[in-house]
Amino acid sequence: MCGIVGYIGDKDINSVLMAGLWRLEYRGYDSSGVASVMDGELEVRKVKGRLMNLQEMLSEKPLSGNIGIGHTRWATHGEPSDQNAHPQVGCKNKIAVVHNGIIENYYTLKEELLKKKHFFKSNTDTEVIAHLIEENYKGNLKESVLKTISRLVGSYAIAVICTDEPDKIVIFRYGSPLIVGIGKNENLIASDIPALLDHTKDIIAMNDGELGIIKKDKVEFFNAEGEKIKKEKKKVKWGPESIEKEDFPHYMLKEIHEQPNIIRNNISLKIKGNEFNFGEDFKFSPKELAHLSHIIIQACGTSWHAGYIGKYLFEDFARIRTEIDISSEFRYRNPVMDGEPLVMAITQSGETADTLAGLREAKAKFIKILSLVNVKGSTIARESDSTIYLNAGPEIGVASTKAFTSQIFQLYLLSLYLSKLKWTLDSSEIDKKIKEIKELPKKMKKILKKENEIKEIANKFKNAKDFMLIGRGINYPTALEGALKLKEISYIHATGYPAGEMKHGPIAMISEGSPVVAIATKSSVYDKMLSNIEELKSRKAKVIVIGTENDEIIKNLGSDVFYIPECEENLSPILVSIPLQLFAYHIAVLNERDVDRPRNLAKSVTVE
Ligand code: G6P
Repeated sequence: MCGIVGYIGDKDINSVLMAGLWRLEYRGYDSSGVASVMDGELEVRKVKGRLMNLQEMLSEKPLSGNIGIGHTRWATHGEPSDQNAHPQVGCKNKIAVVHNGIIENYYTLKEELLKKKHFFKSNTDTEVIAHLIEENYKGNLKESVLKTISRLVGSYAIAVICTDEPDKIVIFRYGSPLIVGIGKNENLIASDIPALLDHTKDIIAMNDGELGIIKKDKVEFFNAEGEKIKKEKKKVKWGPESIEKEDFPHYMLKEIHEQPNIIRNNISLKIKGNEFNFGEDFKFSPKELAHLSHIIIQACGTSWHAGYIGKYLFEDFARIRTEIDISSEFRYRNPVMDGEPLVMAITQSGETADTLAGLREAKAKFIKILSLVNVKGSTIARESDSTIYLNAGPEIGVASTKAFTSQIFQLYLLSLYLSKLKWTLDSSEIDKKIKEIKELPKKMKKILKKENEIKEIANKFKNAKDFMLIGRGINYPTALEGALKLKEISYIHATGYPAGEMKHGPIAMISEGSPVVAIATKSSVYDKMLSNIEELKSRKAKVIVIGTENDEIIKNLGSDVFYIPECEENLSPILVSIPLQLFAYHIAVLNERDVDRPRNLAKSVTVE
């Protein structure tokens, strides 16, 4: 989704803003722009398309000054174009605004402003903000921003500069992330941490309803009533090196290969002997958790698939009834939340608009909230009663990979912990499972070493127009995730199905040569999967099987077979996901897709 950067200090404004925008590129965008103030004049450059277009524009016509804001836009109101790119400017060329989010009442405000003789140059909702600030400006930018936001309905993070007050950037957050980077004799703002890391690791995260005045040597914060508030700065633990591609051609591939180390790191952080330690942000007492009546998991996209796997885990190990819901449904469907439920929000970014709204719905009903989050200090982490961090490091590729396997890992551990509290598994069983967990990194590495095998299979199927992915039990959601990966980055239609449902419709789609990926690892549903594969074979489908090492039966059934090491059934989604991620990746590369920045998608969906 859109990205915001801003800088005030002595460095070259062009390179700082541009570098920040490059760092946010992964979020998805279709146009970009920057603005600065110099000698009482606004300078604005903006252009449709890739960031390279803006960079070329700036090398021909650089900005001057030492204060500036920049933006990558992902179109919502108005098509991607030069005019609709941000910054948006008022009539008098005094005020420039960049904005993430949506202004829902922009039409009414625009009508009002048109009557007051404002003229509009774009079709964006954002331009309304620039004109309204201009209309309200009586020599004090902070006051005019506060007056303006009191009229806005929607979600927004804004950064504003003004020719009459060239010593400050005024920012306001309501529903869209915004972070301040504290430097030495320079300060920065951004919608996401990576854009700040080249300059500082000291950050202050804005909360909803807060305004910031960012000067070169000072930052001040206020509430929506204009009263001063104090905010603490925090240190980011990772540096710019964690957001480099290293020797990999794409972030996605790098992130797929990071997975064994992420799991190893999580094992050493969270398993102490036969005890579990979910970190200092996990604040629920064992007693509270032992009394839970049920769990409701709500999440979006890949995180929803992880949550679905969580349902199998909580019900199987801890015998806790678990519902799984897509956040955009959960937030509007008036769910029953009686008893003593726990609502879980699962999210890589910690900023997904629907997941956040679902969390707030539950909070308003005084329900306990536990979040599984990757980005430290993100809004969802801050608004939850307890948080378990994924410790996966920054995930840049739009298609989530390492966050997914880390989410499954946390859910597995949590379900074991709950089973201990509820006495549903005996300690020897838990010890056995812990032993299995510790074997995971080695097994994951073994799979990654066979990447070429997957690449060869991908090569055979690169021209397919349709894939079906089937699985049963805990690997049904894994099939859903495998299909999502294919859709996201290769743009090839793929659908995930519980294999037992084939006869109820999907098998009608199968004809000679139809490609189907079947997850048939050794498990409680193995025989059932064999029957499903037989059915497909008799209809001449081409079945790519993910099976367990040394399974000779599978060898004769599948047209292609990829073996994973033997492992405990409920842990297998972590291993099965790797070949599915690699399969989607190689199909996408062979089709020359933009793997890290798939069309129309954004890394972090901060608007509905
Ligand atoms: C977007 C991303 C997906 C991600 C989903 C949920 O659609 O492209 O990769 O799974 O949002 O994001 P979250 O940050 O909440 O996990």
